[in-house]
Amino acid sequence: MAKSWVNSAERIGADLHLDLSEPPGSSGPGGPGEPGGRRAALARALREAVRSGRLAPGTRLPPYRSLAADLGVARNTVADAYAELVAEGWLTARQGSGTRVAMGVPTIPLKQPGSARSLRGAERMPRKTPPRTRGPRHDLRQGTPDASAFPRAAWLASYRRALQQAPNEVFGPGDPAGRVELREALTEYLARARGVRTEPGRIVICSGFAHALRLLFGQDRGGGGGVLRGPLAVEAYGLGFHRELLGAAGVRTVPLPLDEDGARVDRLARERAVLLTPAHQFPTGGPLHPERRAAVIDWARARGGVVLEDDYDGEFRYDRRPVGAVQGLDPERVIFIGSVSKSLSPAVRLGWMVLPERYVDDVLAAKGEREAWASVLDQLSLADFIVSGAYDRHVRRMRQRYRSRRDRLVAALATHAPHVEVTGVAAGLHAVLRLPPGTERSTVKAATWQGIALDGLAEFRHPDAMETAMPVRDGVVVGYATPPEHAYGAALEALCGVLPPGEERGPGGDE
Ligand SMILES: Cc1ncc(COP(=O)(O)O)c(C=O)c1O
Repeated sequence: MAKSWVNSAERIGADLHLDLSEPPGSSGPGGPGEPGGRRAALARALREAVRSGRLAPGTRLPPYRSLAADLGVARNTVADAYAELVAEGWLTARQGSGTRVAMGVPTIPLKQPGSARSLRGAERMPRKTPPRTRGPRHDLRQGTPDASAFPRAAWLASYRRALQQAPNEVFGPGDPAGRVELREALTEYLARARGVRTEPGRIVICSGFAHALRLLFGQDRGGGGGVLRGPLAVEAYGLGFHRELLGAAGVRTVPLPLDEDGARVDRLARERAVLLTPAHQFPTGGPLHPERRAAVIDWARARGGVVLEDDYDGEFRYDRRPVGAVQGLDPERVIFIGSVSKSLSPAVRLGWMVLPERYVDDVLAAKGEREAWASVLDQLSLADFIVSGAYDRHVRRMRQRYRSRRDRLVAALATHAPHVEVTGVAAGLHAVLRLPPGTERSTVKAATWQGIALDGLAEFRHPDAMETAMPVRDGVVVGYATPPEHAYGAALEALCGVLPPGEERGPGGDE
C-alpha cells in the first residue's frame, strides 16, 4: 500500500491520489504497517494534498467507509485521521455536509524553491502558532453583550437631561455611597425586576462586580481594608479572573461541587461566606434549586455567614419563570451585587451592592472619603435612564435579540451537530456545548485556527475542584451575544464546522 488512487466519485466527484508511503527515516513502531502508522500516514497524505493545493478549500472528502474500502484500511483509521485534521484546522466537519477542506488553509505555490523540504516541515501543522490577526474573525467568547446594540441615542438623551438638571454640587467630590438619585432608582427597579428588598441607604454604588469583590475582601495579600475574611466558598466553575483577584487579596477560595440543581450548598463547612450565581450558574447555566436557595439562607443564619449573590445576567431569562434574587429571602444575610456590564456595556463601569445593614459602614469606609471610581455624571445618567423607562425598554429589546440568537444556535446545532448537547440556554448570554470526552482542547484549537475565539469549559474550573464531583467534563462555552447581528450567521456556521464529528450513521451515511 504505497500509493493509491481513491475513486470515491459519488462523493468527491474525482479521483483522489494519496501517497501513504513511509517518509524517509520514519521506520520503527507505528510505521505504516501498524494501525497507528496507517492513520498517521493517511493524515500526512491528506495534509500534503491540502497543503499543495490538490485538495482545494471547500472540497468534500469521501465518507469514511468508501475511503477505507478504497485504501484497504479500517474505517476507524479514516475516522481518526479526519478527526486529527479537523482538530488541527485543515478540515471541517458538519453533520449533513460531511468533512470538507477548511477555507483559508495556507497552501504552497508550485515550483517554490525548496518546496519539497518546506513541505515536510509543514506537515505537522499549518504554522507553529496561529496567524496573527487584529482579532478573531468570529468572537464567541462569553462576557460581552452585543456592542453594536449599545443604546447610544437613549443614553445620550439621559446624559443630556442629567447634565441639564444637575445641581452645582454634583461637580464637587462625590459621595462614596453613590448619588442618591441612582440609589433611589435602583431600589425601585431591583424590587420590581429582581425581587430585591432594600432601601437607598443600603445600596453602595461601585464600578462593577470585580470592584465590589475588592471592596469586600481588600486589595492586598495579607488582608487589611477588607470587610470580609476568607476562606470563601465558591462554585467549582466560575470566572478565573475573580478567583485570581481574591487570591491576590490573600483570600483562599474553596470549590463547592455542582450538580443539576446548582451548587452543593450542603457541603459548606467552616467558611463564613459563599459566592453564588443563583439565577444562572456561571458558566454551566442552571438556576439554583429552590430548596438550595432556602438551605443556603438557613446555613447563613445558623453559622453567622453571608451569601454573596452575583446577579450578573439576571435580566436575561427566556424560557422559564423569572428567578428572583436570593436576597429577597433574607436581606440581612445576602450581599446582592449587580452591574450594567451585561445589560448595557462593561465599558460603563457601574455596579451596585445591596448590603445587610451591618456591612454598610465598613463598605463605605473601604471606599474612602470621596467617590474615586464611578463617575457621578454617569451615575446620574443611569438614574435617568432607569427612571425614564429606557433601561426596561433596552433590556426587553436585547432579551428578544438574544433569545433569537439562542434559538438560532440551538437550531444550527440540531441540524449540523445533533450529537452535541447544548445546555444552560434558558437564560443568559452564553450556552455550554457538551463535547465527547477528550475533544475539548482539540476543538478549541481547531476553532482558533479557523479564527473563532471560544473558551473551553476547563478554563472556568477551580484548580482544586475534584474531577469526579463535576457534572460536566468536556465542553465549550459559547457567548452568543458578542458578534454583531450581521456577523452572527457566519459565526454559527464557522462554529459548527469545528465541532467534533459524531458517530457515522447508517450504510453510506454521512460522517
Ligand atoms: C460571572 C460574572 N460575574 C460578574 C460579571 C460582571 O463583572 P463586572 O461588573 O466587574 O464587569 C461578569 C461579566 O460580565 C461575569 O461573567
